[in-house]
Amino acid sequence: MKVLGIESSCDECAASVVEDGTRILSNVVATQIPFHAAYKGVVPEIASRKHTEWIYSVVQEALDRAGLAPGEIEGVAAASRPGLLGSLIVGLSFAKAFAWARGIPFIAVDHMLAHLYASQLDCGDSGARGHAGADRPAYPFLGLLVSGGHSIICRAGAFDDVTVLGTTLDDAVGEAFDKVAKHYGFGYPGGAVIDRLAQSGDADAFRFPLPSLHKGGHRCDLSYSGLKNAVINQLEQFRTRPSRGGEAEKADIAASFQKTAVAILLRGLFNAAADTGLTTVVAGGGVAANSCLRALLAGRKDLRCFFPPPELCGDNGAMIAGIGCRYLERGDVSPLSVTASARVADFKRN
Ligand code: KG4
Ligand code: ZN
Repeated sequence: MKVLGIESSCDECAASVVEDGTRILSNVVATQIPFHAAYKGVVPEIASRKHTEWIYSVVQEALDRAGLAPGEIEGVAAASRPGLLGSLIVGLSFAKAFAWARGIPFIAVDHMLAHLYASQLDCGDSGARGHAGADRPAYPFLGLLVSGGHSIICRAGAFDDVTVLGTTLDDAVGEAFDKVAKHYGFGYPGGAVIDRLAQSGDADAFRFPLPSLHKGGHRCDLSYSGLKNAVINQLEQFRTRPSRGGEAEKADIAASFQKTAVAILLRGLFNAAADTGLTTVVAGGGVAANSCLRALLAGRKDLRCFFPPPELCGDNGAMIAGIGCRYLERGDVSPLSVTASARVADFKRN
């Protein structure tokens, strides 16, 4: 079954065709980064406008690269939540119109569930520490969903059965990367820039605090506002006191921040593993591309960790098409009256 997936929840205008829920026939991602870089953050009005301008040609290119005519598509899936409303509406409306015009099923998909599904996609030979074919993670497993807007540690019993074990009490981890980079003028978007800068830094140069969340009902929860503020306050100290300055100090800040940001994630994740007895971990979302997180988890002998290849960690249409196919296989189709929602779905809470 060939499903077209459309993703427009934030600043990537993306479309993909996936066959039978796992085989990627095409994957087109048009990034709007250059249009938002001047503002050091996503400008919602610009984002929805660019989606409107680009969506037709992005979908056309996804069909062309898959070598398919519109009539060969058997279902259309689109992200309907969570995200920027004006952006979501563009992809969602395009998908509905495509489905209506061709008389094929339409499936509205949760963007975060789709991120978790990304590890089920075949990575073929290009799968940098992904998997090929048979070696895909089996349910149930622990999910680590880490993006610009969300940070969720969950138990996944099936592609659409997620129970939240822990989540951030304030900022998302990706947001912390982005805000720190913005304050230090490292560049945009912050996650990839800090990851790169940290490679040459000393992660022990600065000591930043871990939140005190390890007790009681918060064992698996996360918090990033304290870390973010501590790193930003360090910048104030540089302004008032002499510092070594220069590139080396920037790299040290990046490495020290990244080390602590990842330590916060891992503490919650390891508590979730201890509490549930689950030993398979599946990561998803833009922050899952982080090299420090990947290296530390890959090194754990007690856990089996799966990461999508970096190009499937960030927003893409393949994860939408893939999970859309799973819904379609069991006859789960959405009405064309479905609307977009800025909020994450009400996952079960442990
Ligand atoms: O999943 P995603 O593409 O969009 C959302 O759904 O939010 O995630 C984007 C987030 C941004 O905050 C970005 O800075 C972060 O993922 N990110 C990274 C890395 N690459 C992207 N964070 C840390 N390390 C990276 N290598
Ligand atoms: Zn995302």
